[in-house]
Amino acid sequence: MSKKVLLSGIQSSGKAHIGNYFGAMKQWVDMSKEFDCYIFIADYHALHSLQDPKEMKKNIVNLLLDYLAIGLDPKKVTLFKQSDISEHTELAWIFDTITTMPYLMRAHAFKDAEAKSKDIVVATFNYPMLQAADILLYSPDVVPVGQDQRQHVEISRDTAEKFNRIYGETFKLPEPVIMDTVAVVPGVDGRKMSKSYGNTIPLFAEYEEIKKCVMGIVTDSSEGIPKNVYDIHNLLRPASELLPLYEEHTGKYKILKELLIEDLEKFIAPLRERRKEWEGKLPEALEILKSGGEKAKAIASKKMNEVKEKIGVNVYE
Ligand code: ADP
Ligand code: TRP
Repeated sequence: MSKKVLLSGIQSSGKAHIGNYFGAMKQWVDMSKEFDCYIFIADYHALHSLQDPKEMKKNIVNLLLDYLAIGLDPKKVTLFKQSDISEHTELAWIFDTITTMPYLMRAHAFKDAEAKSKDIVVATFNYPMLQAADILLYSPDVVPVGQDQRQHVEISRDTAEKFNRIYGETFKLPEPVIMDTVAVVPGVDGRKMSKSYGNTIPLFAEYEEIKKCVMGIVTDSSEGIPKNVYDIHNLLRPASELLPLYEEHTGKYKILKELLIEDLEKFIAPLRERRKEWEGKLPEALEILKSGGEKAKAIASKKMNEVKEKIGVNVYE
């Protein structure tokens, strides 16, 4: 029996952080033994907010190294980048033709962006259609993401259903996989950890950077257990180990932060090392991305041919 398919990705818009890892990337690695995995770099998604070609290139390469460093085995997992597969943008257009403006106006990301400024690019509005194409081209069974991406996966399901209703059964409905315990990893200020809030602990931070981030964690002085420190610590150690430790050092925030620094260093150091190894093998890493793209392209173009047949634009035999 063939394996079930897993697909996911991250936009290449900045440095990966431990929220990305525990919320999404770790699940990819854990599930990669069981699933046929497609993990990609959403560079065209990043383009809606990043218009610096040098930065774009750097981010793409960095994310590729991140993917390899977390332990995605390129012999088993197909790694590719979105812009190598033109079918993603092609299918997004077709989805645009069956999706209404009021429907997309209800998307959280669009509403948040609109609340900040009315001068939004069309791509911010259209973002979920490209994401639906990313997903549906590969017929995945599961899409592991953090909580903030739930709505995007739901929009993909709705879009698949709508297309199937109009043109006949074509797309499989994907299931989001969102781990309850790490659905929203908190940042150093207690809000959701996010690049855009500047409250992250980078996934490949050097020791000094870990120290600086942890010392900057906002502590609530009204309680013996500093919630923000504990919540991040709990990503690395179970409550059964942490609670006695936090009780023993109740109110001693500096000691608790030092313990967290040591645990973070223990967790990050091997990832950092593996990333450095891949940095030294950049041509090999890029070759992996390129050949992954060729494999993904074959699947995407087959699906796209089916779509073209269904919508009636294929007039040749
Ligand atoms: P950011 O908010 O930092 O820009 P992305 O939007 O690039 O993060 O998210 C990449 C992946 O990581 C997505 O699957 C997203 O749901 C997940 N993710 C991001 N931040 C968190 C978080 N704080 N907790 C859990 N998952 C997260
Ligand atoms: N929007 C996702 C994020 O910000 C990235 C993404 C693009 C994605 N296409 C996807 C995730 C398809 C899962 C499946 O992280």
